[in-house]
Amino acid sequence: MPTSEPAATEPYRPRLHFSPARNWMNDPNGLLFHDGTYHLFFQHNPGAPEWGDIAWGHATSSDLLTWTEHPVAIPATEHEMIFSGSAVVDAANTSGLGVAEVAPLVAIYTSAYRDHPVHGGNQAQSVAFSVDGGRTWEKYAGNPVHDRGRTDYRDPKVFWFGPPDGGHWVMVAVDADASRLVVNVSDDLLRWRTTSTFESARLPEMWECPDLFPLVVDGDPERARWVLVLSTGGPGQHYVVGDFDGERFVEDAEVPTGRVDHGADLYAAATYNGLPGRRVLIGWMGQAFRAPTSPWQGIMSAPRDLGLRAVEGVLRLVSQFSREIDKAEREVVSVEGLVVDGSGPGSPGAGATVVVGRGAGLQQRVRARIVPGAASFAGIRVLVGETCGTSIGYDRTTGELVLDRSASGVVAHEGFATPRRVPVRLVDGALTLDVLTDAMSVELLANDGEVVVSELVFPGSDAVGVEVFAEGGDAVVDVRVADVVPEGPRD
Ligand code: FRU
Repeated sequence: MPTSEPAATEPYRPRLHFSPARNWMNDPNGLLFHDGTYHLFFQHNPGAPEWGDIAWGHATSSDLLTWTEHPVAIPATEHEMIFSGSAVVDAANTSGLGVAEVAPLVAIYTSAYRDHPVHGGNQAQSVAFSVDGGRTWEKYAGNPVHDRGRTDYRDPKVFWFGPPDGGHWVMVAVDADASRLVVNVSDDLLRWRTTSTFESARLPEMWECPDLFPLVVDGDPERARWVLVLSTGGPGQHYVVGDFDGERFVEDAEVPTGRVDHGADLYAAATYNGLPGRRVLIGWMGQAFRAPTSPWQGIMSAPRDLGLRAVEGVLRLVSQFSREIDKAEREVVSVEGLVVDGSGPGSPGAGATVVVGRGAGLQQRVRARIVPGAASFAGIRVLVGETCGTSIGYDRTTGELVLDRSASGVVAHEGFATPRRVPVRLVDGALTLDVLTDAMSVELLANDGEVVVSELVFPGSDAVGVEVFAEGGDAVVDVRVADVVPEGPRD
């Protein structure tokens, strides 16, 4: 069987986002930068376009935008599925799994047992390792390495804590059904000891895919806090700010918890190991419904660099599109001070629309600064074709950012067309937007990454236009449109 079909049969195949050639994909796993290569493993059913028989698929990239898919890295067996987890470089060979001078790459994943003669239906943590730079993987003979006898204990994120020669390994995982984080430590990645648990009534219930990492505040290396990211029941991805001493996470009760992403379609996001000085997050887009894509299901989000910023005195997690995207931009048009006359006959309601440009393809970066002024609703429309367009704007009557995909193309499920609304502030009277589009996605950062919204859309292949609009009064807009054309191989 061919690994991919001709592009004409795949109108929604993304070019800047990873998608498997065929069949089902969910969470990103084992995000690891090693030796100049970004590894992306992923929850994968190699045999069908729906969830089941889950293994770790594998892809690599040198720019985080163009990916090469490899054979399945860690296969499922009759009695074990390979659920989510992470990967590290065991540089000092603490595990002893390395061979002559080669530090092993070690993956820690959840063995989701099914009718297993010994482990029944438990979820326990297991190890696989690679001594050829991540090309091939072997399951550790002593698996599972960490079993608490539970049926819902999963998604280990492992990282090194402390100085290279005086620290230890940390594994955070969740009792998903109990909404409880479990912190474990180890000196060798093989023997684990539980040091603490963490629960918080401030977050929705049903926790999956934890991640825990330090970030500096406002770029100041003297001020660092730890951030706990959790996927929570119902599509949602939350963060909690706090402190971590290597064994215990304590939340900052005075810092509000927040959403990593307010969109309907981002879930199970995780960050890269092996990137000192950067915290790059990728999530899975496609949780909630069966997308009209074939022969695959699911894409990954664009990479985002995370930071912590004090916004009006309150610490917030902020996201920027990773700089690899900036490098791939080819400017199409840049307009400043465009007055959009939304006060014409029929207003309010009937708005004005101005075409600002057309890209060469569906992969575009659109940056805009919108001064709504007297307009009741003003913003930009991306992925505009003959019969479709996705509107993003500011609703002055409610003070909300609105992402409206009611006319974005295929309406993929009930509720799809209901506009997403997120409270947002104007800064000096303006809302700034940074939007990345691909063949089946819109990712939106507002106010320099204070608010993030990621959603799937299914536009026509002619949807390369960008417009600005205003309703109920005039708005003033600066807008810059660029095609995004990565240099790496496309397939
Ligand atoms: C999140 C999740 C994880 C689990 C995996 C199974 O989407 O439910 O908790 O490890 O998917 O595919």
